[in-house]
Amino acid sequence: MKYLCYIVFLAIVIAQNYNDRLGVEAVPNDGFVTRNGLQFILNGKPFYANGFNAYWLTYEATDPTARYKITNAFQDAISHGLTIARTWGFHDGAIYRALQTSPGIYDEQTFQGLDFVIAEAKRLGIKMIMPLVNNWSDYGGRKQYVAWAQSRGEKVSSDDDFYTNSLTKQFYMNHVKTMMNRVNTFTKVAYKDEPAIMAWQLMNEPQCKSDPSGKTLTAWISEMAPYVKSLDPNHLLSTGHEGFYGDSSPQRKTFLNPPAANIVGADFIANHNIDAIDFASAHCAADLWFQKLDQKSRLDFSRKWLQGHIDDAQNILKKPLILAEFGVGTDTPSYTLANRDAVFTATYNIFYLSARKGGSGAGALFWDLISDGMSNDPSAILLRDNSSTVKIISEASKRLGSIGGK
Ligand SMILES: *[C@@H]1O[C@H](CO)[C@@H](O)[C@H](O)[C@H]1NC(C)=O
Ligand SMILES: *[C@@H]1O[C@H](CO)[C@@H](O)[C@H](O)[C@H]1NC(C)=O
Repeated sequence: MKYLCYIVFLAIVIAQNYNDRLGVEAVPNDGFVTRNGLQFILNGKPFYANGFNAYWLTYEATDPTARYKITNAFQDAISHGLTIARTWGFHDGAIYRALQTSPGIYDEQTFQGLDFVIAEAKRLGIKMIMPLVNNWSDYGGRKQYVAWAQSRGEKVSSDDDFYTNSLTKQFYMNHVKTMMNRVNTFTKVAYKDEPAIMAWQLMNEPQCKSDPSGKTLTAWISEMAPYVKSLDPNHLLSTGHEGFYGDSSPQRKTFLNPPAANIVGADFIANHNIDAIDFASAHCAADLWFQKLDQKSRLDFSRKWLQGHIDDAQNILKKPLILAEFGVGTDTPSYTLANRDAVFTATYNIFYLSARKGGSGAGALFWDLISDGMSNDPSAILLRDNSSTVKIISEASKRLGSIGGK
């Protein structure tokens, strides 16, 4: 008996060491992702993870016969070490497979599509990040909210009225409340209580060109972030930001922003320096932002941009940073596979070097993952095609997931 106890004890010690060495990975039935200073924490340990964007998940899952695409995509992702999925938590307007067809009116079949996506993430061990509205008019977005307010007699005209009009703000808050309180028809768990959801983002790529100072956006985030947290204190919250600098960091604005970014009314520091915002978000699309530069200059820019954001998240914001979108479209000028691979390698390396020291660089999500029989958009990555990029994704993600922080 004594002997048996000893063997069991030894097994536990070995298992614990093994766990420490491997760090922590998302697995089915685990806890909420939380934050401690610069790090995300999952099941008591630092959580560093790469992942992917797949904006199409709910759209496809609305059709029950297409749901295998979600299952296959998630399974492929996990086998390549990817454990975070970012997808739209919105689809507004009187459009095919919309989620919110008019203010406060939801399509039950589409909602069940989103229910399925979340249930499948939970079953397979994927953590979800979902923005709650779009800046762009794709999938409805701010423009749709403004049109709804206009049709109810509000004196709104520009998309930017979204941030200040009381009715558009009310519509947005209603959507937040509907999402948080939605009870998943598969798992019977309310979204606000679902650990498979890692975080919400207030908006995908928020911009407000009518106020380049960034103050309008800061005011809107300062109002909406505490509102989201009041309904859902379980989940982390971020902005959905592209990472453009504004007036609060004139040096960065001058030396790091792509020139066109100085008029979009975003302010990476001020927009994230708000208590209810748990972590910083940024995107990197150098091949889109600098179409006239050569590949080397674009890559040099990407490195500076990523390191600058990690440093600022760490030293100024003191929060983790997720690179929520990066990628290289085959339609960018002078595209080559070798260049795409160089961008992926550099991006993952910069995040790994930060993570290895317990820093703010928490993970990178490429744009975008597709599944079986889906038409390729120029940035699409199909994990099953075994391309050199897929190999880079897989090795980097397994390496990052095995850190567990220090
Ligand atoms: C955001 O929306 C504005 C106005 O609708 C548009 O001009 C801008 O190009 C959009 N940008 C991004 C990155 O979403
Ligand atoms: C990718 O690799 C896997 C495993 O080696 C193999 O089964 C599959 O057929 C390959 N796919 C392609 C498109 O080459």
